Amino acid sequence: MATPKIAILFVCLGNICRSPTAHGVFEQRVAEEGLASYIHIDSAGTGDWHLGEPPDPRTLLAGQQRGYDLSHLRARQVQTSDFDQFDYILAMDRKNLVNLQQLQPQHFTGHLGLFLPFGQDSIEEVPDPYAGGADGFEEVLDLIERAAEGLLAHLRDGPLKQFPPSH
Ligand code: 4NP
Repeated sequence: MATPKIAILFVCLGNICRSPTAHGVFEQRVAEEGLASYIHIDSAGTGDWHLGEPPDPRTLLAGQQRGYDLSHLRARQVQTSDFDQFDYILAMDRKNLVNLQQLQPQHFTGHLGLFLPFGQDSIEEVPDPYAGGADGFEEVLDLIERAAEGLLAHLRDGPLKQFPPSH
């Protein structure tokens, strides 16, 4: 049987800016740490406007400039069944967290919460960059890169301990 993985879903509104950035950044960090066989990563949006689309061109460019290739990602909408498949469902802001809390089945035993508190920042929400300028996409990356390190540390301290060393 395949090794069970810790499954992490990043969620924003459109799944073309913030959550694909978190998806790609965390995927790369997990691969660099040799942990890809233990952690499954995905992203989704609470909205349905961009289904099947690649990330926003500004998201792709900002990511590319820091060495992240996000071009393979495609937008999808969160589904109730995601609560059966993911251990961590991490929202980029409170509005999306509230929407997820409304979808959450009673039997869900995983972690549903905001992503940024895993990092050291006092900022708890990733601001929506969609209607703004290029600076917003840089800020998204700054916040997500720091929280990704915190999430990695959290997983090493707990859930990853069930797996054999290499970490
Ligand atoms: P995201 O940004 O939630 O970070 O992907 C947005 C993308 C699209 C829209 C809003 C936010 N929209 O309204 O289409």
